[in-house]
Amino acid sequence: MTDLQMPQFPKPYWRDSVSIPEFPKLDESIKADVGIIGGGITGITAAYLLAKQNLKVVLLDAGVILNGTTGHTTAKITAQHGLIYDELIQHFGPEKALNYYNAAEEAKELIEQTVDSLKIDCEYKKEDAILYTNSESYITKLENEKKAYDQLKIENEFTDKTPLNIPIKSALIMKDQAQFHPLKYLKVLAEESVKQGAQFFEQTTAVDIEYNKHPSIVTRDGHRVTCRYVISASHFPFYDKESFYFSRMYAERSYIIAVKSEKKFPGGMYINAEEPTRSIRAANLDKEELWLIVGENHKTGQGKSTMIHYNELQEFTKKHIGISDFVYRWSAQDLTTLDKLPYIGPATKSEDAILVATGFRKWGMTNGTIAAKILSDRILERDNPYQELFSPARFQADPSIRKFARINADVAKHMVKGKLEYTKNSIDELSADDATVTRINGNRTGVYKDQDNKIHMVDTTCTHLGCEVEWNSGERTWDCPCHGSRFNYTGEVVEGPAKRPLKKVENK
Ligand code: FES
Repeated sequence: MTDLQMPQFPKPYWRDSVSIPEFPKLDESIKADVGIIGGGITGITAAYLLAKQNLKVVLLDAGVILNGTTGHTTAKITAQHGLIYDELIQHFGPEKALNYYNAAEEAKELIEQTVDSLKIDCEYKKEDAILYTNSESYITKLENEKKAYDQLKIENEFTDKTPLNIPIKSALIMKDQAQFHPLKYLKVLAEESVKQGAQFFEQTTAVDIEYNKHPSIVTRDGHRVTCRYVISASHFPFYDKESFYFSRMYAERSYIIAVKSEKKFPGGMYINAEEPTRSIRAANLDKEELWLIVGENHKTGQGKSTMIHYNELQEFTKKHIGISDFVYRWSAQDLTTLDKLPYIGPATKSEDAILVATGFRKWGMTNGTIAAKILSDRILERDNPYQELFSPARFQADPSIRKFARINADVAKHMVKGKLEYTKNSIDELSADDATVTRINGNRTGVYKDQDNKIHMVDTTCTHLGCEVEWNSGERTWDCPCHGSRFNYTGEVVEGPAKRPLKKVENK
């Protein structure tokens, strides 16, 4: 077989296969019951749930809706979140572990009911979720996970065979999970919200929240959305006041390739327990089968050259599945909290009108949906059985403290390493569509030469807390190893916690 060309630019299949409505920029100050920041699964589901209850909702997105993590997901709707239930039982006890499972199940049901009631054509399909291992040392871990399922009465099957013909030593199956096309689903929720009176605005960056009697979201253009409640659903909580979310989470990137194969997909949604991650599901591309192969996670800004990760996925797929056409590649960023449970609820103890939802790990479809439900229930003054479990104010001594120390030691290491790094790279040797870090007038400077040989230079000091960003060749972004901020090659913010662009360096 001749070597297949990987697509030159990353593009998620989801966005390419549906047309998403466009919305204007906010150009005046307005009032609402609820102001939502971020047009991903949490923001749009919350807008839908609240608008249905006749609340006046305003949703702002700094770019266009459905283009963040939600637009880059694998879109598995499952309570099988990798190896998790045994760990949750150890750290929190069986009651809370079951609470977590029930939250994911309820999210799945909410999606299913919404698909049914609105008759959404979004390729919603029941599938079993299969957690497998091909590593001797993970068999016991998988067995312990099975014991946790049994203890929590989660229906399961433990097997050494799966329909997918790849090397597997044992597998744990969770029945009756689901998958869908997330953007086909959320596009309808956005349209329904607007029909119910919600207002969506794009290219509208929230830069601050002023807190008087009521909170006001302040936009970069100086307009205000004054409301009773704010939901910050922009992946990284853009409002951090003394909550230090950046020190309580770490960002990881993962990679996805979408290929066609001669082999027929046998059904199921697969993920392995060990590293490197390999997660596999199918989707439809114009009635043809597309295999989505996901994995190669690493901390943002701390990987190898990012193209290596795509190549690894390609090699794995060639070896075990076969590739007849290479259709898409893209990557995603996920945030993990200290204890692996999302933070959903009031951003700070003192300001309970500002609500956040973040830290979904890789399980944004269920965690994002349940976050929308928890936060809208709170606003509608309804009880919700999961509020306490996900409260951002929680602090579990174990394992949080150790991890807190580790995450922040890692940040300190990168902070110092980036500053001391000696660079003598030359811009002259740079080829088109490549980047380097060099020193200009003593300052660490990131230089990208675009495809037309135009040079773009930025100061590599991250505008969040001052670590040094690194080049990500797969996505053509500058990524920060400390808390995961990302900037495009001209320095504009792609992903927070940073809010301000990298300083441009003049090309004299
Ligand atoms: Fe925190 Fe860069 S993201 S220093």
